[in-house]
Order: sequence, then C-alpha cells, then structure tokens
Amino acid sequence: MTITYEQITARELKPALLELDGISRETIEAHYKLYQGYVNKRNEILGKLDGVDLSSANQVYSDLRSLKVDLTFAIGGIKNHEIYFEHLGGSGGDPAGIFGDLVKRDFGSVDAWKADLKATGLAGRGWAWTAYDWDEGRLFNYIGDAQNTFPVWNATALVALDVYEHAYFIDFGTDRASYIDTFLNNLDYDVVNDWVQKYGIRK
Ligand SMILES: [Fe+2]
Repeated sequence: MTITYEQITARELKPALLELDGISRETIEAHYKLYQGYVNKRNEILGKLDGVDLSSANQVYSDLRSLKVDLTFAIGGIKNHEIYFEHLGGSGGDPAGIFGDLVKRDFGSVDAWKADLKATGLAGRGWAWTAYDWDEGRLFNYIGDAQNTFPVWNATALVALDVYEHAYFIDFGTDRASYIDTFLNNLDYDVVNDWVQKYGIRK
C-alpha cells in the first residue's frame, strides 16, 4: 500500500521584491533561496514517505517520526514565506478596506495593532502573524518560534512577519525593531484585502 504525493514547484519571486525600500536585493535573493529549499525539502520528504512500509511501523517508527516532523517544518516554511513574499512590495501606511476595518474593530486602532504585532515580532524567535481565527471570529497576533511552531488550527494568516535573522541581518544588523518598521512600510494591503475577500472573511 503506497500513498502518492504530487511534487510542487516554488512560486516565482515578484520583481517588485528586488526594489523594496530598506530591504536589499541581496537579502531578498538569499531569502528566496531558503524558500526554494523548503519546497525541495517538502518534495524530498514526501518522496521518502512514499517508500515507507507502514505494515512494519515499529521498525520504521523513528524514521517516520523524523520525516513527519521535518515535513511540518518544510510545509510551514513554504506557507509562511509565500505569505511573506506575496504581501511585500507595497507602500505600507495604514491598512484601508476590510482588513483596516477588522484591525480597528479587533485591536481598537491601527496603531494598537502595529504596536502589538511589533512587540510580538520582537518577542518571537521566528514569526509573528496576524491571523483571522474562524472560531472566535476575530484577528489575533500570534507568535511563532519556528516554521512549525506555533500555528493555530482554524486560523488564517493574513500578515506574516519573518523575524529570523536571515530576514534582516544584512540590512539592519541586530536592529530588529527598525526592520519591523521597514517591513510594515513595505506591506501591500491590497494583497491582504484580496485574501480577506477570497477567504470570505466578513466583519
Ligand atoms: Fe525566512
């Protein structure tokens, strides 16, 4: 009995990402290679899982465990970076449209949302996400320490702030706070509003 998984390919890098204000081409190109690495890793792991004999699960248990754990890291890395790259390339400012309305409703003000996201990004080891939680019907700023920790079920990430050093060290050294401000200044809220629309998130 075998399970077949399709291979996937990395999304193209939008040309606008090579001309961000304050985040260098060098950083983005290196960062994009890491993302391609997650795509390759996902395909490689699923290829290996294809060959695991599940009928002798005791013997393969440790292999299966490490493959399955690594798979969450690789797939998390793909999803996180696809959001990250897709919603950069704009001019930041205050979010308008439905996303802006949701932010004001759930955080009280745009400034409060930004302050909370920034603090979450400074406290996290890998990610801070603004996500819509379908069970609670509201936005949260969630914290992440790695690609696979700590996403929450039934929540949809709309903003993904990468705070791994690879996202900013070349341009900002250890000054993560300035990087986060720059990230916010490069967000494309039209993209975020398109996602809100596409997912059917309503006020
Ligand atoms: Fe990253």
